[in-house]
Amino acid sequence: MSASLVIGANGQIGSELVDALAAAHGDANVVAADLAPPRAPGRSPFVALDVLDRARLGEIVQRHSVADVYLLAATLSAKGEAAPLDTWRLNVDGLLNVLELARERRIARVFWPSSIAAFGPHTPRDPAPQWTAMDPTTMYGASKLAGERLCAYYFARHGVDVRSVRLPGVISHRTPPGGGTTDYAIAMFHAAKRGEAYRCFVDADTTLPMIYMPDTIRAIGELMAAEPSRVRIRSSYNLAGMSFAARTLADAIAREVPGFSVRYEPDFRLAIADSWPASIDDREAAEDWGWHAHYDLRAMTADMLAHVVADPAIIPANAGIQH
Ligand code: SER
Repeated sequence: MSASLVIGANGQIGSELVDALAAAHGDANVVAADLAPPRAPGRSPFVALDVLDRARLGEIVQRHSVADVYLLAATLSAKGEAAPLDTWRLNVDGLLNVLELARERRIARVFWPSSIAAFGPHTPRDPAPQWTAMDPTTMYGASKLAGERLCAYYFARHGVDVRSVRLPGVISHRTPPGGGTTDYAIAMFHAAKRGEAYRCFVDADTTLPMIYMPDTIRAIGELMAAEPSRVRIRSSYNLAGMSFAARTLADAIAREVPGFSVRYEPDFRLAIADSWPASIDDREAAEDWGWHAHYDLRAMTADMLAHVVADPAIIPANAGIQH
């Protein structure tokens, strides 16, 4: 059987995607790739890979009979502003390396996530349509918008079967998130579980689209399982989960964790958040491949509180990002 290669396998989404693919197709049919081995070895084979090393990527694809590539290695919005050129290189050149292998028919299918960060201040905010003005203000957003156009180009010009969703902020409890603007939501849960107040880097009224990890993994699986003819959009599909203001999340947590409090001290990440839409119109994903989110704010909050471990090593509640 041919294998699935997950690039960025130690990351927030990659680590959970490896397990989901292994459960569906068998441990041996998933290859986990990242810069360094995970702290706790998984059951699927691991390979060290820098996605910018195209020759090594090609070798791995050949050696493991890789058919599908899931490219999750990326630098996110807030962290990306500290090293914009490196962010562009990883996010765009990494994607190009994968698309080129697909063009050469050395891999069959590609999944690559775009983001709500590809939208910008001129995008209608509530909700953001599928086809609309896109004027991202961050290097991360610029790289995602460029990536969308590259996916559409490789499909139209070379027939590459590439599939993508514009992910909202992904909320999860297993790994620390990696420098995103929406990560305040995750940090809030960790602070609450540790019995600490949370210092929030966006405003109380900042409203952003979010999605819970189980829905994220299901969306990726459903999109990749869809008949090619159903996947009419080859740039990236809008995808909605839930939308809430920071204050609404804080209230939802405080109902379960009495005494939990949040102070709002916005930093440069507020401007990033303000440039993104508050909600997403995902009717194309619903019509084309049946997308429907399962988790709302209430269900997500209950599940997060049941699973978040109060371990300061996982994510310091008030971790700042140097800018
Ligand atoms: N979660 C991402 C970020 O905040 C958005 O795609 O950067």
